[in-house]
Amino acid sequence: METRECIRTRRSIRRFTDQDVPDDVLNEILEAARWAPSWSNTQCWEIIVVKDAETKQKLAGLCAPNNPATKGVASAPVVLVLCGRKGVSGYKQGQLDSVKGDWCMFDLGIAAQNICLAAHDMGLGTVHVAWIDNKEIDNLFNLPPDVESFELIPLGYPAKEGKAPQRKELSEFVHWEKFGNNQKPN
Ligand SMILES: Cc1cc2nc3c(=O)[nH]c(=O)nc-3n(C[C@H](O)[C@H](O)[C@H](O)COP(=O)(O)O)c2cc1C
Repeated sequence: METRECIRTRRSIRRFTDQDVPDDVLNEILEAARWAPSWSNTQCWEIIVVKDAETKQKLAGLCAPNNPATKGVASAPVVLVLCGRKGVSGYKQGQLDSVKGDWCMFDLGIAAQNICLAAHDMGLGTVHVAWIDNKEIDNLFNLPPDVESFELIPLGYPAKEGKAPQRKELSEFVHWEKFGNNQKPN
């Protein structure tokens, strides 16, 4: 699929068929995370691949009440748990080197979207799921103290296409030369 078409047509998918994700496809999707850019190439990501039904059920139980993605987490053939190592992105020789603090979540966001776009390119569906009980997920996987969970990505073949929620117009967030100058010059 052409890159811009992939970006435009990717939707959040919350219902999946029972069809398994072949290993080579899963590997290709994980490779997309591997090639994401990161702060000084620090690559803070740690990804747990969950196929076990009981663990997926536990993860669904750790979604916020009324999270629309809960069923998708329980029923997707694969759930990726996106975790990040704190204290590396934005740091030089162990010292924070950025006024913005730890860039881990930023880098993970890029890697996560690479995953979603690569999956969509291969006909699979995903959704970012961050409305979750992160502390309990950290406990579930016994994460070391410097690693935290950030989001879940259920992954599988879409059972139902997603509808595109409305987007802001460019004129609502693009500023030309000066902040507040939203009219594109001729
Ligand atoms: C950081 C992040 C967290 C999200 N968390 C959830 C979530 O917990 N549950 C859910 O159903 N969707 C979640 N979403 C999906 C958004 O609702 C969705 O991307 C947005 O409505 C736009 O729809 P689209 O992805 O189909 O373009 C999340 C998206 C992002 C980027």
